[in-house]
Amino acid sequence: MTAVVSEALSDLPATGRWDFGGFAYGLEPLVLPAVGAPHAEHDPAVVVAPEAHAQICWRIRTLGERGLLTPEVDRCDEPDELFWFRWITGHQVCFVVWRLIAGLLDDLNQGRRTAAEVAGSISRYVDGYSAMLLYTGSCPPDLYSVLIRPSMRLRHRAFSGAWAPDYWPIRDLFRRKQLPNMSGTDAGELADAIRLLHLVHDGVAARLVTNGKSLLREAAVRGPRTRQAGMIYDTYFATLRAPATRPEVVAQLLRRLVAIAQDVAANGLYRPGDEERPPELRQAEAVKCENGLLDIVLGVAEQACGPANSVAEQACGPADGVRR
Ligand code: HEM
Repeated sequence: MTAVVSEALSDLPATGRWDFGGFAYGLEPLVLPAVGAPHAEHDPAVVVAPEAHAQICWRIRTLGERGLLTPEVDRCDEPDELFWFRWITGHQVCFVVWRLIAGLLDDLNQGRRTAAEVAGSISRYVDGYSAMLLYTGSCPPDLYSVLIRPSMRLRHRAFSGAWAPDYWPIRDLFRRKQLPNMSGTDAGELADAIRLLHLVHDGVAARLVTNGKSLLREAAVRGPRTRQAGMIYDTYFATLRAPATRPEVVAQLLRRLVAIAQDVAANGLYRPGDEERPPELRQAEAVKCENGLLDIVLGVAEQACGPANSVAEQACGPADGVRR
């Protein structure tokens, strides 16, 4: 299987300027292999740049340290554009992170790795998902109710996060809150990460939707069949299914993480004056996740570029073999 991802979508982000979507707070389509399909074969002609991913991680770190003083992008004064960017791009990051978790779970289920070997990496990705829930759900509630929720409802009256194709392989883990074959392994870190994730999801839901009811729960219509639901979900979030190599998938993740770090450095997480939080988001763990958002994003970037990834995925080529 050969990859079809356009180079522009999987180039590593350039340094010193906004480099995503063609203009500040623009969007890019995400290209992912179908759920359960392996990554496409790695192209040996692709230049291997071992230092490139390290640079990207360093760049996210320095953006976080410099904070609002020297953002590499202007503050966005169009809330619709900013929070639409966050809604779509933050979800796309979740899809890649879920896929990376699924790869590690697959290693565990196929006996290529032990629970002890994958638990720490999965915990880091789960924290990344929690951070993305906060980021994605950071829009003012009134903007959510007039822009974002209606846009999903127009796509399908019962539109639901439960339709996300990349979530299916990891749903059991998030429901059970522990790995299979966990005996003898310290489950604490992962269980804590999954607990935080549910807390943050509940908090975001409570903040954005006063009665907490999803479109699915409010709709008086049946949802579509599973495959079609997945397609509706993917197309809403500008996500295409086509062969892609692992380096291409990781590069698409890094492009988004850098743009997100730049956005948070320039705009902060919440709009000034938008300080009200439901009890879930005032709990100490959720506040820690909010305050450490950029560090968590960096952790996901390092994890995705590092050696501790799925054994099967490593066979598809090194994460740092990405075009520059
Ligand atoms: C911020 C971004 C969000 C993401 C990434 C997200 C993701 C998800 C996912 C993956 C599921 C499936 C869980 C499962 O099947 O175990 C789900 C379900 C659900 N989500 Fe969210 N969610 C988000 C925001 C919200 C908001 C704002 C609400 C407010 C109503 C909400 C309410 C629900 C409910 C009630 C369910 C259960 C299934 C349903 O009724 O649709 N979520 N979400």
